[in-house]
Amino acid sequence: MTNTDDTGETSIATDGDDPQQAIDAQGERRREELDERIFEHSAGDEQEGIPFVGAGPGNPRLLTVAGKELLGEADLVVHAGSLVNSELLEEYCAHAELVNSVGKDLEELIPLMRDAYENGENVVRLHSGDPAIYGAALEQMDALEHEGVPTHFVPGVTSAFAASATLRTQLTLNEVSNHVAFTRPQGKTLTADEDHISEFVEMGDVTTCIYLGTHAVRDTMDRLLEADHDPETPVAVIYHASWPDEDVIIGDIGTIADKVEEAGYRASALVVIGDAVTGAGYERSFLYGDWANRGSSESADENASKPEASDD
Ligand SMILES: C[S@@+](CC[C@H](N)C(=O)[O-])C[C@H]1O[C@@H](n2cnc3c(N)ncnc32)[C@H](O)[C@@H]1O
Repeated sequence: MTNTDDTGETSIATDGDDPQQAIDAQGERRREELDERIFEHSAGDEQEGIPFVGAGPGNPRLLTVAGKELLGEADLVVHAGSLVNSELLEEYCAHAELVNSVGKDLEELIPLMRDAYENGENVVRLHSGDPAIYGAALEQMDALEHEGVPTHFVPGVTSAFAASATLRTQLTLNEVSNHVAFTRPQGKTLTADEDHISEFVEMGDVTTCIYLGTHAVRDTMDRLLEADHDPETPVAVIYHASWPDEDVIIGDIGTIADKVEEAGYRASALVVIGDAVTGAGYERSFLYGDWANRGSSESADENASKPEASDD
């Protein structure tokens, strides 16, 4: 079967049985040419095809307006299992068939979404948080695109942002944290060499947000202690951020593992390491200091006249 996508390009469709072949082909194509849709659409625009929507961290109120509209029109919603709050599904997907993606491989998911789309159904792929963070979205999109089904991202609130809101702090904070690392610990996916948590903590002015690491808090903290990091470095573990059963555990590198084990959490929490956890010790930013008074006397184009301050 030959398909023409909305860039006008043609591709040979597989029968859906071999998503790996489709992913390889799309990857090759990506290396060779830019997708023109990058320049034609912005995030949040209405676009044709299957949207890969970020559900946000859990609280249905943290879904975007675009996400809510798309779910309201959906006939089929394929969702990412337990990290998508069932309250959100009940509230916003009342008329859709719901399919939980957990336990389904690409060989099953791709034909399911493709066939529904080709039958004229509105299909939404719903990921927890933001699909671009540990979402494995691109491989599904590539497999669908290769079959002539257009796809696009609709961003969501990643759990690190819900966690910082719960903690009433910023992930970047003037004179405390200049950088944020979204990371995960070594395990089945990452080798020990690919685990950079110790390096991020070593930098001192990084807020390290660890996804997929609830079960490994003890191992992670032990490694940090072995690497001679200050045991009093603040750590927060936010279980189910923004859910009704949200739980916040505050400690430091030396104490957090005992506290998490006592609480019994093995999954569904975000681990935040760094001084920004406490929100203490920051300095007033330039933005609302000297720079605030400079704009009127300089160029009217504030983008041209002002350096990129720690805006917002
Ligand atoms: C497969 S990743 C998906 C991340 C998701 N795409 C995001 O942007 O938040 C799953 C991990 O995200 C984190 N996570 C997702 N939702 C969470 C929440 N509401 N509270 C705390 N951590 C959460 C946990 O670390 C969990 O192990």
